[in-house]
Amino acid sequence: MSRPTARVVHLVSRPTGAPTAENFAFLDETVRPLADGEALVENTHQSVDPYMREEMDETGSWQLHAPLEGRALGRVVESRAPSLPVGTLVHHRRAWRTHSVVGAAETTVLPDFVGVPLSAHLGILGGTGLSAWVGLTRVARLQPGETLFVSAAAGGVGTAAGRIARLLGAGRIVGSAGSAAKVEHLTGELGFDAAFDYHDAPIADRLREAAPDGLHVYLDNVGGDHLEAAIGALRDRGRIAWCGAVAQYDRLQDPPAAPRNLFDVVGKSLRLEGFLVRDHLDARPELYDFLVPHLRSGAIAPDETVVEGFDHVVDAFLGMLRGANTGKMIVRLADA
Ligand SMILES: NC(=O)c1ccc[n+]([C@@H]2O[C@H](COP(=O)([O-])OP(=O)(O)OC[C@H]3O[C@@H](n4cnc5c(N)ncnc54)[C@H](OP(=O)(O)O)[C@@H]3O)[C@@H](O)[C@H]2O)c1
Repeated sequence: MSRPTARVVHLVSRPTGAPTAENFAFLDETVRPLADGEALVENTHQSVDPYMREEMDETGSWQLHAPLEGRALGRVVESRAPSLPVGTLVHHRRAWRTHSVVGAAETTVLPDFVGVPLSAHLGILGGTGLSAWVGLTRVARLQPGETLFVSAAAGGVGTAAGRIARLLGAGRIVGSAGSAAKVEHLTGELGFDAAFDYHDAPIADRLREAAPDGLHVYLDNVGGDHLEAAIGALRDRGRIAWCGAVAQYDRLQDPPAAPRNLFDVVGKSLRLEGFLVRDHLDARPELYDFLVPHLRSGAIAPDETVVEGFDHVVDAFLGMLRGANTGKMIVRLADA
């Protein structure tokens, strides 16, 4: 029997500094026959994420001329796995291809939340929203009435954090983003109380204006100058949930200097704690219980930028690194 063809993306060279389309190649591959316990998934959506930039480096996990890892959603179209019958909608980590052969043990059957778009499982209900949830509730332990600062606030984690923090009863919510349009979106559409474009530095001054009484919590997606400014703006016993450092992923060999005011962590009795969402997957049911009713009622909407077509997956990834997205950057490959 003839086998289907998958269109796939490989890494063919490693970037120095910002990656380009020349680092990637598109190929056509014949899908191999399935073994027992495997299924063939036609992917409908793929996530492109900042951490992938680190995987492109020599020290990262991505090999040249080999399949790449990434999160995808899709529908089972052929199966030799009893737990994955044809038609099942699943999440897996064999993205960067139109069709993926997956093992049952590495594949999650998606819960059917009627009224919630499928793509939300890569955004606000996926690892992105879970990062915001874990950072706010488990790491920073945000309390009602507290003032929160979120960097990269118009992105996937940032928009989810703004939505979740408001529902948790945060007091003042401040965000930073990379353009005037994003700043307007944050305060106009997403309910942030104040926002600023970080290009209008110094960030410390912008924070002083946006949160004159200081911060209780900082959810850091950026690192570098943002972290230094937030340490300066935090009140005594403030908390920093360090989620990411997107400002330095292009320069791992030459990262920005550590915050010059790091010792204020002692002087103000601050708590600075990093976390990886993969260590908190047990929090997913909490996130579903908390958010799904709000998504179903329309009280909140998933914030997403959706790029159409697998041929644009590399453009979507590079665009996300440059800030082309508002909300979670997702590539739609096929109808669900
Ligand atoms: N700890 C974990 O387990 C975990 C899990 C998921 C994500 N993360 C981290 O969370 C952060 C956000 O991830 P995401 O998936 O939601 O991505 P995202 O925020 O949707 O996309 C990345 C954004 O970073 C901003 N950016 C790029 N270069 C920047 C720079 N030099 N300074 C400031 N902002 C810059 C861009 O927005 P602008 O237009 O605003 O510049 C861009 O939209 C990343 O640091 C990521 O690594 C961590």
